[in-house]
Amino acid sequence: MDTRELELRIGQTIIDGYRTDTGRPAVFELLGRQWDLLDDVWPPAYSPGGELHAELIPFPAMTSFLEMGSGTGIMSVLAALAGCPRVLALDLNPAAVDNTMRNARRHGVDDRVEARVSDLYAAVPPGERFDGIYWNPPFLDAPAERLDGSLWHETMFDPEYAKLRRFLVGGAGLLTPAGRVYLWFGEALGNPALIDELAAVAGLTVRELHRMTMTEVPSALARALPPEVTTGDQYEQWHLHLLELGVPA
Ligand SMILES: C[S@@+](CC[C@H](N)C(=O)[O-])C[C@H]1O[C@@H](n2cnc3c(N)ncnc32)[C@H](O)[C@@H]1O
Repeated sequence: MDTRELELRIGQTIIDGYRTDTGRPAVFELLGRQWDLLDDVWPPAYSPGGELHAELIPFPAMTSFLEMGSGTGIMSVLAALAGCPRVLALDLNPAAVDNTMRNARRHGVDDRVEARVSDLYAAVPPGERFDGIYWNPPFLDAPAERLDGSLWHETMFDPEYAKLRRFLVGGAGLLTPAGRVYLWFGEALGNPALIDELAAVAGLTVRELHRMTMTEVPSALARALPPEVTTGDQYEQWHLHLLELGVPA
């Protein structure tokens, strides 16, 4: 099967599995805290990501942090709780913006977290710069003509990684001089040079802060992988990681 068709199948399996899960919680626990989860918002309860390694991101030293595609807003809340005084959370999905502010209020940081509906950086106030920018983006490439424009497809798929490219190029231009972009990502199914190539286009260098091997991947994700993937060489090579990208000195 063509790799992009395979990624489409994996992503659709994850979406369908989640949306038909009657045990989906309205409130879930992660990192010793309770979090609200609205319908139609990507569920970290189901598949936690970079927030598990938030201590590797220097939030206490930051004066401004932008979370792209904030979903439930966990990373935004963690940044504010760690002492960052200005957090801007952006998401294409209005339910995610609502969800982020609910969790900011739940944890008493709504004075420091502002959430806006935004297609990538469209809603960033003119002239604002950030010490840190983070995204847990749509991971999977898929043929654009097979996608329906729904929020779930926007959350899961990025045809030819056009969004990721715009995220990195746009982010590089919004950093303070010592600022960094942080990315939770997995170059799914045999595209190991992807981030290095996109980073080079954006003029950024890449450093891996944490690597999660496939044996550690949440079962909801692992179950979505078809047997031809989990038994092949690609499975051994695929991993998720937290990356730090910066402008070379
Ligand atoms: C994989 S989810 C991650 C959600 C959350 N950050 C987390 O880690 O739980 C990707 C998020 O990116 C958002 N997104 C997708 N395309 C976007 C775009 N063009 N602009 C802003 N957000 C976008 C989705 O709505 C979704 O909330």
